[in-house]
Amino acid sequence: MIEPHGGKLVNRIATGEKREELLKRVKEMKKLQVSYWDVSELENIATGLFSPLEGFMTKADYDNVLENMRLSNGIVWSIPIVLSVDKDIANQFKEGEDIAIYYEGEIYAVLHLEERFERRKKEEAKKVYKTDEDAHPGVAFLYSQGDVALGGKITLLNRIKHEKFNEYRYDPVQTRKIFEEKGWKTIVAFQTRNPIHRAHEYLQKTALEMVDGLFINPLVGKTKKGDIPAEVRMHSYEVILEHYYPKSRVFLGVFPVNMRYAGPREAIFHAICRKNYGCTHFIVGRDHAGVGNYYGTYEAQEIFDQFKPEEIGIVPLKFEHAFYCKKCGNMATSKTCPHDKENHVFLSGTKVREMLSNGEMPPAEFTRPEVARLLMEFYQGEK
Ligand code: ADX
Repeated sequence: MIEPHGGKLVNRIATGEKREELLKRVKEMKKLQVSYWDVSELENIATGLFSPLEGFMTKADYDNVLENMRLSNGIVWSIPIVLSVDKDIANQFKEGEDIAIYYEGEIYAVLHLEERFERRKKEEAKKVYKTDEDAHPGVAFLYSQGDVALGGKITLLNRIKHEKFNEYRYDPVQTRKIFEEKGWKTIVAFQTRNPIHRAHEYLQKTALEMVDGLFINPLVGKTKKGDIPAEVRMHSYEVILEHYYPKSRVFLGVFPVNMRYAGPREAIFHAICRKNYGCTHFIVGRDHAGVGNYYGTYEAQEIFDQFKPEEIGIVPLKFEHAFYCKKCGNMATSKTCPHDKENHVFLSGTKVREMLSNGEMPPAEFTRPEVARLLMEFYQGEK
């Protein structure tokens, strides 16, 4: 089985006596109420999904991630994982003390505060998102956060009580066990924040021709306004798996991580998390985790070339823009299809939305009818 990033799967979940003891001590600690974004990052650190991180970043890691896409120990890491608070709140805490972390009035974790430091938002925006415009949803979110970061290891005391997708939630220890039980040695992961369409299916199945198993891993953390709700997206997967995928070779589980829209840097981060789940390969298509026109079509693929393959560990499977070609009579990319654009079925996102809201079926070469029908229901409900 592939090693977790950094060599060891992190586990910061307190159990048994240690948990009981911390739960008692929590009553004397200063409290910090955090947002859903923060508590979910915290849980992802605790379960080892963000291995080798054991807590929120301290300044040396933050600086190194911004500058070199590495933690201070040299391990590749592309996205800051920080707990931001307003200055006056940060001033209430002392370095070296334990802080009780609450979300919606309930205790979730303890932060062992090592360091407080200023978050350099403009610089972070330019380095991580390649723009400091707040029209970029990831940058807008960054700007909305507090100015001071609280760094230090965390210990999780309680799991988030999720209302949705509980049957699809698996920690890295669990996926690793499941893949092993299935006898899969090579596993390709697919990241997505959209309902499945034929190009996605083509990428997944082409990859599956070469490996033992496919881990479909739709992101269900925070997404921007305008993105299709996770319920609808998950439903599209249930429907398509039932009709078009070999059950014994596919595994569906949610990716409980917030979306940054940071394109290339997020592709590295996405790949590392999937390695922690036990996957050996990761699909990176066109404009992975991109938004608007901030990134080049294949920048999220090219960024992998900045590192030695063994530094990333999981193998990126890079795919060109995929489409249905009428002359070929199949799905293809410019690597495999010699025909002109007019033979390719291309529909913009806006066009598809328009068709679906008007009750019009997009061609089956673009979306499977079973998926189109449920998207139609969603868009018509929105009207
Ligand atoms: S993403 O933000 O999660 O990347 P999306 O769900 O649209 O968005 O994409 C999931 C994966 O499929 C990404 O790796 C993306 O690059 C790839 N992809 C989406 N559409 C296409 C396409 N038409 N051709 C090639 N790759 C694609």
